[in-house]
Amino acid sequence: MNKRAESGDVKAAGLDQAAFWMPFTANRQFKKAPRLLARAEGMHYWTPEGRQILDGTSGLWCVNAGHCRPKIVEAVKRQVAEMDFAPTFQMGHPVAFEFAERLARVAPEGFSRVFFTNSGSESADTALKIALAYHRARGEAGRYRLIGRERGYHGVNFGGMAVGGITANKKVFGPGVAGVDHIRHTHDPVRNSFSKGQPRYGAEFADELERLCLRHDPSTIAAVIVEPVAGSAGVLVPPVGYLERLREICTRHGILLIFDEVITGFGRLGKPFGSQHFGVMPDLFTTAKGMTNATVPMGAVFVNQKIFDVFMQAAEGIELFHGYTYSGHPLACAAGIATLDTYEEEGLLTRVSTIEKHWEGAAHALKGAPHVVDIRNCGLMAAIELEPRAGQPGKRAYEVFVKAFEAGVLIRVTGDIIALSPPLIVERAQIERIFECVGTMLKSVA
Ligand SMILES: Cc1ncc(COP(=O)(O)O)c(C=O)c1O
Repeated sequence: MNKRAESGDVKAAGLDQAAFWMPFTANRQFKKAPRLLARAEGMHYWTPEGRQILDGTSGLWCVNAGHCRPKIVEAVKRQVAEMDFAPTFQMGHPVAFEFAERLARVAPEGFSRVFFTNSGSESADTALKIALAYHRARGEAGRYRLIGRERGYHGVNFGGMAVGGITANKKVFGPGVAGVDHIRHTHDPVRNSFSKGQPRYGAEFADELERLCLRHDPSTIAAVIVEPVAGSAGVLVPPVGYLERLREICTRHGILLIFDEVITGFGRLGKPFGSQHFGVMPDLFTTAKGMTNATVPMGAVFVNQKIFDVFMQAAEGIELFHGYTYSGHPLACAAGIATLDTYEEEGLLTRVSTIEKHWEGAAHALKGAPHVVDIRNCGLMAAIELEPRAGQPGKRAYEVFVKAFEAGVLIRVTGDIIALSPPLIVERAQIERIFECVGTMLKSVA
């Protein structure tokens, strides 16, 4: 960024014509009035002009330990000077082995194998491919169907997009992957609005999977993928009993259950992983984001030993024709090890269990605020859903987002839903500040 942009002089800096095609952004709108972040530390960002912004979203649900943590920064610096890159195809380097070992130790029992990717999207596609290859290796090549869920988000690559259930993310990209179907989402505002934690009603939504088994024949279904809590579609918390029922149906029909823990992994729900919070174990699960505290991009698929063993029983040779140039990148692994150290030293993988009641209370205190039609929460995630402005869906929440940023608090909006997920180090006073700011901005918009 040149000096003029740093000073906030957007037009003079040519930002309105900038080369950067920004992801998931209304580029023309943004470049007319950009919001820039130039520095970060702990719970805060600073704009180029030096304005402090309280981070109510952990960047993008990913900076779980807070920003620029010294141990992680140092580890990355050391690693880049020592060895910038090393291949992991038919080669190896100690940092990747060490990180995988450390991850397997924090994972739920049995998840002893870790496949490295570079993002949540790659983790989703990797998990789906492992599921297909697993069935084939067991002589069940007829299991090719992949089942996702409406309003699910599994990234933007073709596999994850196909099983994902957010229409806007799919509609212009053609027919996608064959053999995909979806169960319904779990959102039921009529019965469950303003639920604290898991909603009471809706375990039976899992029975949709039975219906799909009848429709397609279960012996054709390879895997079901769901987020334990749907994050991107607006914090949709699974009803009591729902995940248990999904697990039971999958087990009964020999279908693999994949949890996408890209958001719920690494302490967001008060346990290291969402599966532990809900007490329901998948067969594989995907991660990214908090894995390296977002310092260096990385993701991973955790695989149950029993699944891994099936691959290792094949004839000698490459067991899985899949991988990325940057699978197990040394910088990401170094960042990841230091991230786990930081999580462990500060108890961050379980800290949320000590603050979630306070968080819940602060979120639900906004019941009755202007425009609010629902509030939901789980762990250190919360959503405040607004009534859409007539004929202008998403506009009201977007205005709240812009005004909150101007007032020094970063929130996130998806449609007319405000989603909040601060770093796990958040203090009580900062929780108050986030919700007070949202409350004030709700009063200020039409
Ligand atoms: C549940 C889930 N899966 C996958 C992804 C995609 O991750 P990435 O953007 O790193 O590809 C996200 C991103 O928000 C996510 O929330």
